[in-house]
Amino acid sequence: MVPVIAIDGPSGSGKGTIAALVAERLGWHCLDSGALYRVLGLAAERRRLDLDDPLVLVELAATLPVAFEAQRVLLDGEDVTNLIRTEAAGLAASRVAVHRGVRDALLGWQRRMARPPGLVADGRDMGTVVFPDAPLKCFLDASPEARAMRRYKQLKEKGLDANLPTLVEEIRARDQRDRERAAAPLRVADGALVLDTTALSITQVLDQVLDAARRVF
Ligand code: C5P
Repeated sequence: MVPVIAIDGPSGSGKGTIAALVAERLGWHCLDSGALYRVLGLAAERRRLDLDDPLVLVELAATLPVAFEAQRVLLDGEDVTNLIRTEAAGLAASRVAVHRGVRDALLGWQRRMARPPGLVADGRDMGTVVFPDAPLKCFLDASPEARAMRRYKQLKEKGLDANLPTLVEEIRARDQRDRERAAAPLRVADGALVLDTTALSITQVLDQVLDAARRVF
């Protein structure tokens, strides 16, 4: 079986950064499952689909013309890497992600990313639903304020618009939807290594995850 490290957590917990660094260190593949939901949200909005209508969204999810190429995300061949990083795209993602049918339609796509020599997958349900047998599961968390500040800096670095109080509100709203939904709610997987990253540097978190990986693999 292909080894998998599942890294889950709320938005801005650092899981994406850590997953990419762990994958780089180990020479493994990396799956940013949030990007998949973001592309789906963007595609649905562009087609002016009703984000509350599971039927049309399931059809779109099953045929989504998405490709992950090196560091780029393509939708219908168009580079949407930066477009999907806005908070608006994050909110659209969290709306399409509540539908169980949509999640099921994306399951096979995500599992096929588990290829040798290994996969580091980050998201909300990597350890609970998509890769429940992953030998190493991590759950990263941080206070909403710390997470909003990280998002703020990321957006500013990319030259995108950002407002800190609005980001805190949006993060709280997205957390609530992700934690309270019936289908694959955000929760700590059994046996997961839980890290509160509020006061930790990226290097400190990375070291803890790599230490755990050395013990498990
Ligand atoms: O991780 P990221 O912030 O990019 O994810 C965007 C949204 O996609 C999340 O707020 C969540 O609603 C949804 N998502 C999900 N399951 C995943 C990854 C993301 O429901 N595995």
